[in-house]
This record gives sequence, C-alpha cells and structure tokens, in this order.
Amino acid sequence: MRLVFLGPPGAGKGTQVKMLSKELGVPSIATGDVLRLEVASGSELGKLVKGYMERGELVPDDVVISVVEKWLKGIDVKKGFILDGYPRNVRQASELDRMLRELGVELTAAIYLNVPEDEIVRRLSGRLTCRACGAVYHVEFNPPKEDLKCDLCGGELYQREDDREDVVRRRFKVYTESTRPVLDYYREKSKLLVIDGVGGIEEVYERIKRAIGL
Ligand code: AP5
Repeated sequence: MRLVFLGPPGAGKGTQVKMLSKELGVPSIATGDVLRLEVASGSELGKLVKGYMERGELVPDDVVISVVEKWLKGIDVKKGFILDGYPRNVRQASELDRMLRELGVELTAAIYLNVPEDEIVRRLSGRLTCRACGAVYHVEFNPPKEDLKCDLCGGELYQREDDREDVVRRRFKVYTESTRPVLDYYREKSKLLVIDGVGGIEEVYERIKRAIGL
C-alpha cells in the first residue's frame, strides 16, 4: 500500500496514520513532525521554516519536496509507505507523482478525512503532543493515563504553538485555498477515497480499513 493522507488541520491524519502504519508494517512520515523537530533542534532548516509554521502558512515547496524525496529514496517504496501532511498543494502532488515514477511505483490511494470546521476547533484546542516521540492525545477524546505524561515514552506533553485559535483559523484558510484543490487532482486520477472523519478514533479507523480493502 502506498498511501497519502489528506484533510484539514486536526482531522486526525496523524492519529490514523500511526495506527495504520503499525498494522500494515510500513514506514510513514509526517512532514509537520519532521519540520517541528528541525525547529526544536535550531538547525538552519529549522530557522528557515520557523516563521512560516508559527504563522500557520505552508513552508516553501522546495523545502518539503526535498525532505520527502530524500525519505522516499531511503526506504523500499515497493514494500509500501504512508505520507501524512504531504502533498499540501497541486505542485507537491505532481512532484510526488514524478518521484514515484522515477522509483518505478505508483500511488495506491489518497485518503481524505472529511471533518467540518467546528469539530476541528474542538479537536485542536484539546490536543496534547509528546515533546519526545510526537505521540498525540486529546484531553477529552484520547486522554493520557497520567496527566501531561506520554503513555508510550514518559515524555512531556505540551500544546502545539500553532494550535492557538488565531493560527488554527489561518491554517484552515491555507488548507481551503491550497490543499483542497489536491482533492480534485486525485479525484481525476480515480485515486481519491473520501472517509467521514467524524466519530470515534476506532470507528474512523475501521472506515479507512474497509475503504482500502483490509
Ligand atoms: P502538520 O503538523 O501537518 O499539521 P496539520 O496538517 O495542520 O495537521 P495536524 O497535525 O494539526 O492534525 P492531524 O490531522 O494530524 O490531527 P491529529 O491526529 O493530531 O503541519 C504543521 C505545519 O507544518 C503547517 O502549518 C506548515 O507550516 C508545515 N507543513 C507541514 N507539511 C507541509 C507541507 N507538505 N508543505 C508545506 N508546509 C508544511 O488529531 C487532532 C486532535 O484530535 C488530537 O488531539 C487527537 O487526539 C484528536 N482526534 C483525532 N481523531 C479523533 C476522533 N476521531 N475523534 C475525536 N478526537 C480525535
């Protein structure tokens, strides 16, 4: 299975991709996680992308395209993979097609998690993320066993800076303008699978598995 996950901020992409990549035994990459690690490390790349991320804007295409291309070249794409948060616009989608063509494979499907804006705000305002391993929780829908401590690695849980209400609104606008057209891109290629992303985490997961024939 070679899959990409699309959807508005907070749709549950990261939550579902982590579960599916474990069950399928295929590697996954979340471009947002990679970029956040670069910012935290203070690297040159991190300094370059920090402002874009804080404002809720897309970082320049060339940066993410090269991150994804390097990652794809480092794995066995024939065995499958999942991308979370890439592609975010039509240029990134067509660059992905080019990379996969060069590697001799094709995308299996693009999974779109459809979640309305009011639900997004509820999810993002209660999200907690592990500073050490990136695991994602929700104060109400998926709480950690111990307060502000990651169940998986014991790391500290924090609220992402871009989950502030004004930045969430900006991210949603960027999604509507830049990322929604990617849905048509995959629909035209008959690769788009639309999943209702409203409901419990397990319920949504079952819908995804059914859609991809698992
Ligand atoms: P990124 O980290 O990719 O953020 P995003 O796409 O906005 O997505 P999120 O991580 O916010 O949400 P998610 O859909 O993964 O939801 P989650 O599973 O956490 O990108 C951040 C920034 O990086 C961008 O703004 C941009 O600057 C840059 N960037 C990244 N990729 C880029 C690219 N390709 N090009 C350019 N720039 C790029 O779930 C959210 C919450 O809801 C959690 O608390 C979770 O527990 C809860 N939840 C999940 N599912 C359910 C459910 N079914 N019911 C109830 N609660 C649920």
